[in-house]
Amino acid sequence: MTSQALATFTLHDGGGLPLVLLHGFPLDHRMWAACAAHLPPGTRAIGVDLPGAGHSDLDGYQPSIEHAADWVYRTMVAAGEGNAVVVGHSMGGYVALALAERHPGFVAGLGLVNTKSTADTDEARAKRLRIAAAAESSQTVDAVLGMPADLVGATTTERRRHLFPVLDSWIRAQSPAGVAWAQRAMASRPDRTAVLERFAAPVAVVVGTEDTITPLAEAEHMVQAAGAPSAHSGGDAALTLVPGVGHMSALEDPQAVAAALGLLHMQVVAHH
Ligand code: MLT
Repeated sequence: MTSQALATFTLHDGGGLPLVLLHGFPLDHRMWAACAAHLPPGTRAIGVDLPGAGHSDLDGYQPSIEHAADWVYRTMVAAGEGNAVVVGHSMGGYVALALAERHPGFVAGLGLVNTKSTADTDEARAKRLRIAAAAESSQTVDAVLGMPADLVGATTTERRRHLFPVLDSWIRAQSPAGVAWAQRAMASRPDRTAVLERFAAPVAVVVGTEDTITPLAEAEHMVQAAGAPSAHSGGDAALTLVPGVGHMSALEDPQAVAAALGLLHMQVVAHH
């Protein structure tokens, strides 16, 4: 099947090896804009709208994180990008891990922000399929409109109220078909912890201390896998804990996340 390129956006100008930023659900590349603005000067950052999100179409593909990863890869190669530091937030992290598995030569470093390498529980999977069905039958995104309360941490709920209308407007802009596709794609993804065990380039794991969706234990699990000594392992992974933020660390404390990603980029470039 042929497909158009996914929509991409330059979020920070620069040259050399880019950071490719993959967004979470049910959002699009805009969730990265504030964080990208704080990247070190000269660090190029490209935001991608994943299939069915923002300005990207679905092109009739069956829902799958693997299709999403292949599509990001094709889009980047068509744009002349041979490799990149791939950074994924939550769902974007699931895609980043699939990219590292399927196109390892493309992924020069991995940034895993508020995400996990484990698969869904049966309960989580069933909930996703219910949301997908609701989005399709109602032809609305009503089923995910309540998400911002869970996405941000308790501190943001108290002190950064201005982020609620922002998240709300981004979620309302998504298509019901895209929401259903992403939920089904995430529901069928496997555990990719072993991808991290094999990955031989720098890894940065970032998590908010108030993240209840992909909590610290999931971050520690990834760090342990990426740092676990094995025949193929590249060694340690860096863990950044961002205090006072929840699942949307890149939005709740963009500077802290940009600092971690800037460091990862520097490390990759030094070893490239
Ligand atoms: C996200 O932020 O991408 C989602 O909360 C991830 C998920 O539903 O697993």
